[in-house]
Amino acid sequence: MRDATGLVVCTTCRHDDDRSAPDGASDGERLSAALSARGIPHQRQRCLAACKSGCVVVLRDDARWSFVQGGLHPEDDLEALIEMIGLWDQAPDGLVPWRSRPEAIRRNTIARIPPTETAP
Ligand code: FES
Repeated sequence: MRDATGLVVCTTCRHDDDRSAPDGASDGERLSAALSARGIPHQRQRCLAACKSGCVVVLRDDARWSFVQGGLHPEDDLEALIEMIGLWDQAPDGLVPWRSRPEAIRRNTIARIPPTETAP
């Protein structure tokens, strides 16, 4: 990850299952903690308005394509998210081909958003 502003994690999300953390942490909090434990910088944000598709994260960059990703389980989909972050980081224009994305990412991409900056 280039820096913490490139990944936004919703900390209030709930994933669609009945497992809960012993300390009562939300699934989004668990996902954020798991990313921190792996040394992946990110910005924490309460609610990204895609609550029915939790857990939700955003990969964003003004100069490259951004992605809104949902449906992430904080433990089961952690490796898929980390792989996607790596693929996105390496893509010069931010576009990660659908076939290259991990299965959990393919199934649950909510949106891709074009860069706000124009190429020089
Ligand atoms: S609670 Fe995560 S998007 Fe609303």
